[in-house]
Amino acid sequence: MKVLDAPFVQGFMRLADDGWQMGWHERNGGNLSYRVKAEEIKGIRDGLCGDDAWQPIGASVPLLAGEYFLVTGSGKYFRNVMRAPEDSIGIIEVDAAGDHYRIVWGLVNGGKPTSELPSHLMNLEVKKKRDEKYRVVYHCHATNLIALTFVLPLTDEAFTRELWEMATECPVVFPDGIGVVDWMVPGGRDIAVATSRLMESYDVAVWAHHGMFCAGEDFDLTFGLAHTVEKAAEILVKMLSMRPDKRQTITPQNFRDLAAAFKVELPEKFLYEK
Ligand code: 13P
Ligand code: ZN
Repeated sequence: MKVLDAPFVQGFMRLADDGWQMGWHERNGGNLSYRVKAEEIKGIRDGLCGDDAWQPIGASVPLLAGEYFLVTGSGKYFRNVMRAPEDSIGIIEVDAAGDHYRIVWGLVNGGKPTSELPSHLMNLEVKKKRDEKYRVVYHCHATNLIALTFVLPLTDEAFTRELWEMATECPVVFPDGIGVVDWMVPGGRDIAVATSRLMESYDVAVWAHHGMFCAGEDFDLTFGLAHTVEKAAEILVKMLSMRPDKRQTITPQNFRDLAAAFKVELPEKFLYEK
């Protein structure tokens, strides 16, 4: 099968285009990665080449040794993924030690994987350790969520609770909550370490004044998660622009009742009395 015809490549491109349509990817903003299944690699093996030089990842991910990842390119625009996929995205192979990668397909015009590769791979490694089924990590510059990082306390508790209160489905979609990373320099190992620590407990991490990282089992679940979080953030921005406090809201007991009905566990640390 041609690489571009593979369903996982098509699903990756569709997510990138959906994110662009949502307005979350100005210029080269955002990046996406997918841990490719062994059988998916087998299906496209003829289209891969192994001549490229090994490059340092900038982090060590021994649990991902020998695996393949579809990633967006650094400086590439989500807007162009559908029209110029071979220039915008690429497949990389991680070496046997888990600290170098080489490009085996795509990024044809001298492109390199996203500058957030350390965060993507460290997050995918943490998720794989906890649950083999996790394969997607998505970083977007979601407008309303970023806006909230200027007005809410930068704590997991405040972001989780405030966003849960904005839509009844939220605690069902992200029952573990949301982690928050203080402002940090992007694109390196330090922010990757901070984010992957949060990914041990959460599927969503907010980067203050920057954007969101989401992890999931497939493209639908991961995009749906980002969409749900950003929709809740939009409702909160609208609510705050009407009045500074809520006249009524979902209460801690309402959340406990919801948890029982939907069979999810909601950590009590997010159900504090205000
Ligand atoms: P890249 O173009 O290197 O993926 O960077 C975009 C970005 O959003 C950095 O956080
Ligand atoms: Zn970014």
